[in-house]
Amino acid sequence: MRTKYLYINTMGCQMNVYDTGQIQNRLAPMGFEPTDELDKADVILVNTCSIREKAEQKAFSFLGRLAPLKSRNPGLIIGIGGCVAQQEGKRILKRMPYVDLVFGTHAIGRLPRIIQRIAEKRCRVVDVQISEHISPDDFALGNTPASGTSAFVTIMRGCDNYCTYCVVPHVRGRESSRAADDILAEIRHLVSKGVREVTLLGQNVNSYGIKEGLCSFPRLLEQVDAIEGLERIRFTTSHPKDFSDALIGTFGRLDKVCHHIHLPVQSGSDRILKRMNRRYTRAVYMERVERLRSVCPGIAITSDIIVGFPGERPVDFEQTLSLLRKVEYDGLFAFIYSDRPNAPAVRFKDKVAEAVKKERLQAVLDCQEKITLDHNQQLVGTLQEVLVDGLHAAKPTASESETGGGASGELQWSGRTTTNKIVHFAAPSGQLTENQMLTGQVLQIMIEKAMPHCLLGSLQALEDAIKSPGKGDRIHAA
Ligand code: 5AD
Ligand code: SF4
Repeated sequence: MRTKYLYINTMGCQMNVYDTGQIQNRLAPMGFEPTDELDKADVILVNTCSIREKAEQKAFSFLGRLAPLKSRNPGLIIGIGGCVAQQEGKRILKRMPYVDLVFGTHAIGRLPRIIQRIAEKRCRVVDVQISEHISPDDFALGNTPASGTSAFVTIMRGCDNYCTYCVVPHVRGRESSRAADDILAEIRHLVSKGVREVTLLGQNVNSYGIKEGLCSFPRLLEQVDAIEGLERIRFTTSHPKDFSDALIGTFGRLDKVCHHIHLPVQSGSDRILKRMNRRYTRAVYMERVERLRSVCPGIAITSDIIVGFPGERPVDFEQTLSLLRKVEYDGLFAFIYSDRPNAPAVRFKDKVAEAVKKERLQAVLDCQEKITLDHNQQLVGTLQEVLVDGLHAAKPTASESETGGGASGELQWSGRTTTNKIVHFAAPSGQLTENQMLTGQVLQIMIEKAMPHCLLGSLQALEDAIKSPGKGDRIHAA
């Protein structure tokens, strides 16, 4: 079989990253190898995101640049998948005559047959069929080793929550959970390929299994926790309305569950939360945060905020700022509200002016920057357990060099704390034999400097730094 090359441009969320892996797993048996050179590719796929207007524009602008490639190589197959494909369907074929394939979020399992058909018949295909239930056939384990230390695993797809700003229920379909045995088998497979950390993915992982009468999410976590060789478990996204005491309890009880939670609040105003159809109040959210911190002191909490939702008055926005100051998140993703097709908020009146939205975004970012840096600074002088991702690609900055990073005879490494903070650290290369490369190891790193988006640290003696059995207590912020 001739090696064929597959180029995939992945945009958007972690779910798309996972889906791209699934596409590669599906196409590998047909002889497709991944490439990052557009000119070399036999098939180019764009895995798109439509959560905000900007993401959608990015997808079309990338596709626009592919037209000349197709004129040079008429045998090239160009496909668009993911949320924009699901939303726009065959309209894309009209708009872009050089696109051969539009495949929706549920069509990945059918891709091998579709691509074969296009190659043989030079036809154009649109597959945006949505199925109600997830099935084991929707997932394919990879034959090639997972490259990293960390991997995503989808545990459910779709969403039934219908937040009024959100396109997801319209492009990813109804919520449907995957059988626990199937999930556990995939994780065991990943661990056998060297993965040490998994992030369980779903639009609302807290409601895992409820609809289908499967085990609860905390019970699923217990089973994942028992997998030998796995070091860490993360999960996202959690919805505050379903964030139960049983789930909160797992942070204190299960050893491998990382001390970080992404708990999107979206707004600090009850009036806006109601208009967003979030189905919790500010008080309920605050109570969940306090409970989390009492069960797991030092847990890092991050969130999503939307500014400029239709009808957001200055007083509502002030409440968002006051919530940020009160919760003191470790990190924040802040977005300017953007109208999405099919999402009910498109029709809401009282749209906020673009200039006001931009001002509010800046105010949120300024407020959070100080808090994040302050939290990071509290870690200076502490030892942190870091799961090493690999060598740090970027050159150390001048300030990093001051801490000892980048000196000759040292290698720069990157990893994450259990609280999901990125740590760059230098390790004397002389201490490492070839078999002692640090990727995938959990090391004790001394934090020496806090930056707004990462921590800088150093590895002392290698033997002391490698986490020994029985020494596995997690280290919290001071
Ligand atoms: N406009 C702006 N931000 C949005 N998000 C979802 N839909 C929109 C929208 N229409 C944000 C929410 C969500 C995150 C993934 O994207 O904050 O949590
Ligand atoms: Fe969108 Fe709300 Fe579902 Fe999240 S919970 S995917 S924001 S509808």
